Amino acid sequence: MRLGSLVSVTSLLLLTSTTLAFKAHDFKTCSQSGFCRRGRALSARAKDAGAAWNSPYTVDASSVSIQEGAVFKAGVKNSLYPEVNFGLEVRIQDDGVIRARIDEVGGLRKRYDEAASWALISEPRISQDIKWSAGRDAIRATYGPKKEIEVVISYQPLKITLYRGGVEQVVVNGQGLLHMEHFRNKPEPPPAATETSSEQSQPTDGEPQVVLEAAPVNHRAWFEGETEDALWEETFGTWTDTKPKGPESLSVDINFPNHGTVYGIPQHATRLALPTTTGDSPHFTDPYRLYNADVFEYLASSPVSLYGSIPLLHAHSADSTVAVFHVVGSETWIDVSHRSEKSTETHWISESGILDLFILPGPTPEAVFRQYASLTGTPVLPAQWSLGYHQCRWNYVSSEDVRSVQKRFDEENIPVDVLWLDIEYSEDHKYFMWNEKTFPDPVEMVNDVAANGRKMVVIVDPHLKRVQNYPAFKQASDLKVLVKPKSGEGEYEGWCWPGSSSWVDFFNPASWDWWKSLFKTTPQVDGSWSWTQSTEDVHIWNDMNEPSVFNGPEITMPKDNVHYGGWEHRDVHNINGMLYSNLTWQAVAARGDVPKRPFVLTRAFFAGSQRFGAMWTGDNLGTWEHMAVGIKMVLSNGVGGLSFAGSDVGGFFGNPEPEMLVRWYQVGAFAPFFRAHAHIDTKRREPYLLDEPYKSIVYSVLRLRYTMLPMWYTAFRETTVTGVPVLRPQYVMFPKDKNGFDIDDQYYIGQFGLLVKPVTEKNKRDASVYLAEDQVYYDYFNHFAYRGAAGGRNVNVPAGLHQVPLLIRGGSIVPTRERPRRASSLMKHDPFTLRVALSNTHTASGDLYLDDGETWSHQSGQFVWRGFTASKKGKVISISSSDLGKKRPGDAVDGVSLTSYDDRNEFAKSLEGVRVERIIVLGVEKKPKSVKVGGKEVEWEYLEGVGAAGRVDGGAATLVVKDPKVEITRDWEIVIA
Ligand code: NOJ
Repeated sequence: MRLGSLVSVTSLLLLTSTTLAFKAHDFKTCSQSGFCRRGRALSARAKDAGAAWNSPYTVDASSVSIQEGAVFKAGVKNSLYPEVNFGLEVRIQDDGVIRARIDEVGGLRKRYDEAASWALISEPRISQDIKWSAGRDAIRATYGPKKEIEVVISYQPLKITLYRGGVEQVVVNGQGLLHMEHFRNKPEPPPAATETSSEQSQPTDGEPQVVLEAAPVNHRAWFEGETEDALWEETFGTWTDTKPKGPESLSVDINFPNHGTVYGIPQHATRLALPTTTGDSPHFTDPYRLYNADVFEYLASSPVSLYGSIPLLHAHSADSTVAVFHVVGSETWIDVSHRSEKSTETHWISESGILDLFILPGPTPEAVFRQYASLTGTPVLPAQWSLGYHQCRWNYVSSEDVRSVQKRFDEENIPVDVLWLDIEYSEDHKYFMWNEKTFPDPVEMVNDVAANGRKMVVIVDPHLKRVQNYPAFKQASDLKVLVKPKSGEGEYEGWCWPGSSSWVDFFNPASWDWWKSLFKTTPQVDGSWSWTQSTEDVHIWNDMNEPSVFNGPEITMPKDNVHYGGWEHRDVHNINGMLYSNLTWQAVAARGDVPKRPFVLTRAFFAGSQRFGAMWTGDNLGTWEHMAVGIKMVLSNGVGGLSFAGSDVGGFFGNPEPEMLVRWYQVGAFAPFFRAHAHIDTKRREPYLLDEPYKSIVYSVLRLRYTMLPMWYTAFRETTVTGVPVLRPQYVMFPKDKNGFDIDDQYYIGQFGLLVKPVTEKNKRDASVYLAEDQVYYDYFNHFAYRGAAGGRNVNVPAGLHQVPLLIRGGSIVPTRERPRRASSLMKHDPFTLRVALSNTHTASGDLYLDDGETWSHQSGQFVWRGFTASKKGKVISISSSDLGKKRPGDAVDGVSLTSYDDRNEFAKSLEGVRVERIIVLGVEKKPKSVKVGGKEVEWEYLEGVGAAGRVDGGAATLVVKDPKVEITRDWEIVIA
């Protein structure tokens, strides 16, 4: 959301209601961006030249050295500029990941090389087990458990190839598009009278790079083009980018000769399997752009950049998954072409920075997720309440409004965990400062919400109103931690919600402790300002952190603004938003005597943002297309490591008709982050305002979400360990099944074999669900059994308005809590239900992870982690529960591992007496004679299958074990004979 200039909210209403359309002219296309144009032109020249094209970049064989057994180092030359030096370093990590870095050596300036320091969790360890074989023209590193991986660095020209099992997986600079534009001095304009060539700029005296004798400019034209294009200055609309450092862009082709499908590089509103951007009939004509931007009313199908950027791309085939992660913080464009069904070419063009490329060798999606997580971290385990339902709108206008919304939820007995406040809570958009007229009693208001076991999330945007009576601005200004304008002096001033604003430069370490101090809920010892008008039940929403600057180029900060260390905004733009949510996350974490897990929602993000909370897909439209693409975007964010994601339920803009709102709630209930939100100009649409039957349907969807919270929490815990996303696309579940590579409207949740396909079309009352395997899938609600088939089969699942197509894969055990409650905090001692979906071979497994949901005590062993299994021996089916916590030696206090049975596991003790109240076993083909626990018969009921015998679809035979008298923290076995 943005405005061209500051206007009042009233005029905003008029503006938004009359102009609902993507403003294409606000954002650059590739052809309007100098370095993207240059990059694409380079690629076009290469294509025209065909086989005659040769990369001018070569490795200086005489400079090659191998250090510490796993680090290749060498000098690199561009034959067109022999006087310029580059260095190549290829490190092989102990997990097999390859890191290739190219930087300019001894250039006129230093290129920005710190992106990785923000994205990575630590310096990766290098391998101790590499075999190098050096030849005259290339060197080969061989490694891997079966010595199946080879990395070949070719010298003439420079090319890096990853092979697995002798098959090419990733080729860097195979097409010869590598070009690191070296720093150069700006040429003086040629004196008109002595001009020798009308087209070429002349070098200045003493400029080492442009030595005509060494390589005449026109000799370079085959590679760099006939004319210099926007090297030193560039205008877009009314803005001029002064480019004080001149050209420094970086182009590189990365090809996957044996992978036909690519995923990732979020965030774009498009299909999960990325459509092509070049070739004879490209799907999109522009490359995918990564440049965090506040894109007003974005299109539902577009390569245009959105709020966040993760430069990670998975390449997939039935035999192999690999990935590349290019850690660069500047604007980046990526062309994708599928040369054949089997191969993909990509071309990455970044405006500045070094080449810092991680090649993740896979070989499976899970391995790639693990490799990426070991670089940038796994998602942080969210507070349990944050997986509940969040009620937001722009705006709840007063503390009384907040109380009345909560009251309505309570009166109607519908669950909600979090009430949100958008920007209008603040006085003149000075965040932290309550509008005293409308919010006279903020602490009491928060306490009233907390008294019902709920939390509040309040927005804190990064733009600080430039007024001296605003402590946040005043202190930042005094500390000199604000972003500077292009002069490098003073404070950059731009326009956002509060009018004239400045932005904290979070790259400046001097801002860190100060920012954290603002969030303290208790008075500070030195008397400086802190947010005493809040409580630890307040968590934070970071919006507009791309950053959004209403009067800036492309609604963001000028690229020539200056950050800490003298770096231009251009160098760090895509990282900027992550730093803001990182510091806010740390600030919220640092409150209170017993540290609690923070919740921070961010709109802008970068690689690594998963460590700092949740994201949402920004200002979507209340349309069916946006509802559908939101699912794909959430899946794609998961590929990028950001599992905790969701879209505004209902759509931010517009007034969804009731049917759409119902469907949107169904989508939200099956998204990791579940929040309803709406623009200030929309009609109120809290669920209790709906008419019947819509209201009851939404209520049941909300309750369904709450019953499934144990499953969601356990799925999140899994991703904190493995990095495999909470929502798993078809290709992740069935990497070998080509039919599934393009499927992005159905997905699995966590390790639970729950397959969901939300309906995102008007009047649609059934859904075609694809089953990839010879396995039984049961309808979650009516237990109808669908038989999947080897090679894949589509089944038709009923999807009346009240129905979400949701299947449980045979072989899964899903834990739920089915007592209706108003907030998740009230469920702590509720009994559990287990749904045991027997596989074709009468087996099943699942797990349940529990902790206090709020503190960090789980890190010292205060958790319960149960494993459930079902198996069949002869005619006897047994279902048992065991302690998986015992298998986690990492969770230790003073070196002692705690388990659910350890005396010091207070959390496990707090669950004593909490029962499993029901076990629903799907697919018990014959009516049992007895169902016993510890030798004693328990109560049960058997429901005959209807027409489902053998391998035919039909209602599954179901055994319901009622109150088996087993406790959730204990070992037990149920014997069905
Ligand atoms: C833009 C955000 O995307 C939107 O969710 C929010 O309501 C407005 N800013 C106002 O804060």
